[in-house]
Amino acid sequence: VKVAVEKRGALIVLEGLDRSGKSSQCRALASFLRERGESVEEWRFPDRTTAIGQMISSYLSQTAELDDSAIHLLFAANRWEKKSSMESTLRNGTTLLVDRYSYSGVAFSAAKGLDFQWCSTSETALPAADLVLFLDIDPEVAARRGEYGLERYEEVDFQRRVATYYQAMRDSTWQIVDANQSVEEVQEALREAAVSVIQSCKSGAELLRLWP
Ligand code: TYD
Ligand code: MG
Repeated sequence: VKVAVEKRGALIVLEGLDRSGKSSQCRALASFLRERGESVEEWRFPDRTTAIGQMISSYLSQTAELDDSAIHLLFAANRWEKKSSMESTLRNGTTLLVDRYSYSGVAFSAAKGLDFQWCSTSETALPAADLVLFLDIDPEVAARRGEYGLERYEEVDFQRRVATYYQAMRDSTWQIVDANQSVEEVQEALREAAVSVIQSCKSGAELLRLWP
């Protein structure tokens, strides 16, 4: 499903395994873009500030148990509740830098054994990212980083399975960045890709939908 071509902000998503460095890279990228005069908002999923987000948060911190399909749908609902706000922000010309999105939703749930296709269905018709910046890290390297293992899913074999589902979702909007490099080298790669997609959305680009 496509809508008319328009001048708008870009939907840029950062994805990667736990402890791949998404959050700090996201913050640095946002400051860089703002210094260049771009209008940028930083978002993240799960958005733990909403009622649904609070249920997700207690699940992730292991204080609550939930059926795998039920938590999958809550993660999806947490994106749906932000859909109209996401679209109006983009149409106002503001770029969204989003730390995790539907790609995490599918990869993490499929890694638990839920059907990949079923997992994708709850994302259908949400805005698709113009650019997915995938921070590609060896799960063993990620596991050596600080505080690893505190939250659900932070376990090397599970993360390996997540990585294979991420791989299955790659398309032309994905930019794979080697996250085993230095923080500065990773940032450099992200900047180049972000600047270029923001430029093309400014000159007019269709807002695509998941998953065609
Ligand atoms: P969080 O601490 O918010 O992010 P990060 O690990 O990047 O700091 O944790 C989010 C966890 O939830 C992470 O392990 C990925 C997982 N997740 C899903 O299972 N489904 C989803 O839809 C999303 C957005 C995240
Ligand atoms: Mg985490």
